[in-house]
Amino acid sequence: MLQINDPIPDTDYGTPASESTQAVTLTIDGVEVTAPAGTSVMRAAIEAGVQVPKLCATDSLEAFGSCRLCLVEIEGRRGTPASCTTPIEAGMKVHTQSPKLARLRRGVMELYISDHPLDCLTCSANGDCELQDMAGAVGLREVRYGYTGANHLAATKDESNPYFTYDASKCIVCNRCVRACEETQGTFALTISGRGFESRVSPGMDEPFMDSECVSCGACVQACPTATLQEKSVISLGMPTKAVQTTCAYCGVGCGFKAEVKGDEVVRMTPWKDGKANEGHSCVKGRFAWGYATHKDRITKPMIRASIDEPWQEVSWEAAISHAASEFKRLQAKYGRNSIGGITSSRCTNEETYLVQKLVRAAFGNNNVDTCARVCHSPTGYGLGQTYGTSAGTQTFKSIAHTDVVVVIGANPASAHPVFASRMKRRLRQGARLIVVDPRRTEMVDGPHVKADFHLQLTPGTNVAIINALAHVVMTEGLADEAFIAERCDDKSFREWREFVSRPENSPEAFEAATGVPAGQVRGAARLYATGSATGTAADLAGKARPNGAIYYGLGVTEHAQGSTMVIGIANLAMATGNVGREGVGVNPLRGQNNVQGSCDMGSFPHELPGYRHISGEAVRKLFDEAWGVTLQSEPGLRIPNMFDAAVHGDFKGLYCQGEDIVQSDPDTQHVAHALQSMECVVVQDIFLNETAKYAHVFLPGSSFLEKDGTFTNAERRISRVRKVMEPLSGVGDWEATVLLSNALGYPMSYAHPEEIMREIAALTPTFAGVSYEKIDRLGSVQWPCNDQTAEAGTDIMHVDHFVRGKGRFLLTQYVPSDEKVTSKFPLILTTGRILSQYNVGAQTRRTPNSMWHDEDVLEIHPHDAEERGIRHRDWVGIESRAGTTVLRAELTERVQPGVVYTTFHFPESGANVITTDSSDWATNCPEYKVTAVQVTPVAQPSSWQRAYADFDAEQQRFLADARHTAPATAGGK
Ligand code: SF4
Ligand code: SF4
Ligand code: SF4
Ligand code: FES
Repeated sequence: MLQINDPIPDTDYGTPASESTQAVTLTIDGVEVTAPAGTSVMRAAIEAGVQVPKLCATDSLEAFGSCRLCLVEIEGRRGTPASCTTPIEAGMKVHTQSPKLARLRRGVMELYISDHPLDCLTCSANGDCELQDMAGAVGLREVRYGYTGANHLAATKDESNPYFTYDASKCIVCNRCVRACEETQGTFALTISGRGFESRVSPGMDEPFMDSECVSCGACVQACPTATLQEKSVISLGMPTKAVQTTCAYCGVGCGFKAEVKGDEVVRMTPWKDGKANEGHSCVKGRFAWGYATHKDRITKPMIRASIDEPWQEVSWEAAISHAASEFKRLQAKYGRNSIGGITSSRCTNEETYLVQKLVRAAFGNNNVDTCARVCHSPTGYGLGQTYGTSAGTQTFKSIAHTDVVVVIGANPASAHPVFASRMKRRLRQGARLIVVDPRRTEMVDGPHVKADFHLQLTPGTNVAIINALAHVVMTEGLADEAFIAERCDDKSFREWREFVSRPENSPEAFEAATGVPAGQVRGAARLYATGSATGTAADLAGKARPNGAIYYGLGVTEHAQGSTMVIGIANLAMATGNVGREGVGVNPLRGQNNVQGSCDMGSFPHELPGYRHISGEAVRKLFDEAWGVTLQSEPGLRIPNMFDAAVHGDFKGLYCQGEDIVQSDPDTQHVAHALQSMECVVVQDIFLNETAKYAHVFLPGSSFLEKDGTFTNAERRISRVRKVMEPLSGVGDWEATVLLSNALGYPMSYAHPEEIMREIAALTPTFAGVSYEKIDRLGSVQWPCNDQTAEAGTDIMHVDHFVRGKGRFLLTQYVPSDEKVTSKFPLILTTGRILSQYNVGAQTRRTPNSMWHDEDVLEIHPHDAEERGIRHRDWVGIESRAGTTVLRAELTERVQPGVVYTTFHFPESGANVITTDSSDWATNCPEYKVTAVQVTPVAQPSSWQRAYADFDAEQQRFLADARHTAPATAGGK
């Protein structure tokens, strides 16, 4: 086994744990052992400390029984059964060691080794190879067959994947990779081709990995017991010497990882087996795309300049902080206390985010703080808060293992939340039913071994019509859970809502023209969700347990003019069918960024203090006034779009923006740029010169997640540790920079470590009162609410006996068509989304080999729409909306329906947000990214915005390069 310094080493028990509650007692090598029924003999032995040799078994996969190395003897049974495929029985007497077993095992190993390159000492897996370990374990000293017979030693390597190699000469055909791809990942990209001696692992139709269906999740690499499938980073850097448990900094799944390092260099990221969000699995981003952290584009020295038309000047931290503070003070003296504000980052830790909002409220003295959730899940906060009393998902990811009917609305987890998608697909392969509500034919609709029962392929902007129509069917066909409603929900609001959704105008038939979805499909889907059958009736439900229906939704729900209405509609439907408050059900927003849940929890919104307490509440303000020694403003501050508008009007003059690229990610790019240009001091703290930093006057170098201590909170409300693997490249951590700025502004902050910040959060926030680093270190993670009224590890399922607000509240959800209407000038609807290999604005993933999968944003267009316009595959097309124009390549595909076009926004030069408009959610201002009326035409050159962008970018890059070349030798450092 690999000997590395790992404070929480993993044990491979050979086969998965049994979930049975029935105990079985047997003896293994004379020792009495008790384990749950259904446990394999192998697992029972390893749990009892008895090592059984194995090669084809690993505890993340079902037993396969092919290598015959794990043979045991069982008294009273003939032969030597494989311990991995033999379940324990009461009274069984197992022997794992005997001369006969030793002889058989050596024979097996001899066959493997005779067809294996004998290059152990120079092999990149030396010390981390189970074949090598097993040869030692069975005492193999010589190979009787010699090494000169038929073998695979000359097999060629497949180096096509940027992150791992496939060296067929080392393959022992154990099938673990094939099973990992099927069972763990759910992609089914690998097969064993050929028979007997000819059998080999093969991606797809004997293609290179990069040409196959493989999504580079790495599960096969992790499962491979030899160096056949191996990370290229291990081959080039050698084996790691130390492991540090931390949390992925990409998406809201929040996968636990072990960063395996050598010195302070990361060698590989291994998904953490005990990570509760991912249980040992990962996607291509978390496992492989960490190279950006040490990319040459990282900026590690603070910089200032008087105007964005001037070159940057590298300065010391003291000079940068003092310049920013004096500018902010000058602006407040000249334009008033409310003329500046801050934006917290959903990529930074809870502790860092907490400090930025504290700085705004206590040091700036106003509530002008907001976060990127404004542009993604703010409607979730509003909608779930209004109906259930708390603004977060109701379940754990694992809960889906108990779901009978899965509903996915406006989300493509296979691209944006891949590890959760693998869990979902596993449940679907076990027989759960699936309803997808999405304008696009995503891979959730029709993928390997997964097919949706219903795909409600609605016109973008008609979500509320669909949710009302589903509710209409439930209520008018008697499919509601009356007992749940009577016990758990507010009666008056229910009766009003029932009357509302039962009206004929809310029927599937009435909405058919608006949504484009046949009424029969909506009726079938509603029956399936409520009864478990597409033809289910009220009579079918009588006297039976209702099926577990769980709704998962994404930005396709929230990023609409009626985003909040739709979240309320989803919450209503789940309550009406009794699908809240137990395993397998619930309402689950799939949060985008790694810590978007946490940044909202930490009080990043202008109207809320940490723990979602309204700033107007006197008692809560008093608590913070006393703790922070200030008098907080009682009125909510400006939201991000209000900051932009105020800047353009000349009232908002300074911004501290930590780890957020508002120029690329927010709608109507030209308006955002205009707003920033109207400000006198923009301070950007980031790891790269992002699009926003090009408009900045002060640049503070940020840290990657590998350089941080702190916590992230995922979409399950799970708080996990982020642990430092290397020191901040700039010498100053993100939280330390905020402290320096606050002190320079005259509001003293003093913390020795992020743990002290978490102590302050816990002391001031009832839902976090039980959270501490000590507890997270001990339990692995905790889920808020976590205090003395919850279990020690917090709350896994919300609203179990009652809703957080008491009775669940139904609210009316009137469908209002979007103002973004198609016209003869703009006859198509543009909707936007993400792709697996890239992440958000792409600043990190574009600086990794992930760009090999997706190196430009393209416009998906239906072949009919393309033909009408004379557009061919890969042609350049202009996309024009009332906000602006950009140019992308066309991709002709039937994934989109006629009348709808789609793109991603991972590359700044694409200008996807040049065309999105200022239309936004009525309750929260979340932009309506998902509905923009556009026209698409063939063009020959980039748009005028793109040409201007290219010039501006070139100039800003030159300013940066000049600063680096002319930096004084003393710049940087604290
Ligand atoms: S990397 Fe993932 S998707 Fe690709 S073959 Fe391996 S397990 Fe399958
Ligand atoms: S590639 Fe590795 S995991 Fe797959 S069959 Fe070969 S040895 Fe086993
Ligand atoms: S699913 Fe999300 S959290 Fe997990 S490895 Fe991928 S990007 Fe990271
Ligand atoms: S480990 Fe049991 S047969 Fe391979």
